[in-house]
Amino acid sequence: MFEHMNMTEDPLSIMADGAPAGPEVRRKETTFGGLRGVFADAEAHASIPGDRVAYRVAWHQAVADGTPGGLFFGWTELLPGVVGAEYAMTRGHFHARRETAEYYWCLSGRGLLLLMAEDRSLRWETMAPGSLHYVPGRTAHRVVNTGEVSLRFGACWPSDAGHDYESIAAEGFSGRVLVGPAGPLVRTETGARA
Ligand code: F6R
Ligand code: ZN
Repeated sequence: MFEHMNMTEDPLSIMADGAPAGPEVRRKETTFGGLRGVFADAEAHASIPGDRVAYRVAWHQAVADGTPGGLFFGWTELLPGVVGAEYAMTRGHFHARRETAEYYWCLSGRGLLLLMAEDRSLRWETMAPGSLHYVPGRTAHRVVNTGEVSLRFGACWPSDAGHDYESIAAEGFSGRVLVGPAGPLVRTETGARA
């Protein structure tokens, strides 16, 4: 009989919505109040209650932040919404250790993953259930919810990657995703593209 062999009291698992659960799982909510300066339309942003949740993140952190060789396993739920002419989005970041990469995969909802290189060249990938995305090193990443329901996605990244939000706070992304007449429209620094 192999009953209870190697079983811990409190195992790690993935819940129905895709979020990790169990020991060493941490959670963080980001409110619109915490996203000041992220959206182009400051007036529209100011009209949204500061305590309204924009997105929530849960991640399994088995080792201390900064430990070389480990991995973090995360999940994000980005709520649908529009701020002025712009879709709801994550803050976005480069990794502090620039060479570190990351995987994203879409669980539910629909959106765009913006990928900006250090020279500010921008590309984007469509996120839909089942889509898998490789974020190379030296690439800032931001997720935009272009749908009407929550966009949920998984993520896995090195435990020594760290997050550089300051560069994005200072310089922004080189494109914004706007509500266009026939769906999302990406407006880049060099012109509008569908
Ligand atoms: C980790 C990662 C994701 C994001 C999350 C929230 O490196 O890319 O887990 O941290 O989707 O987005 P930010 O961190 O940009 O607020
Ligand atoms: Zn990241």
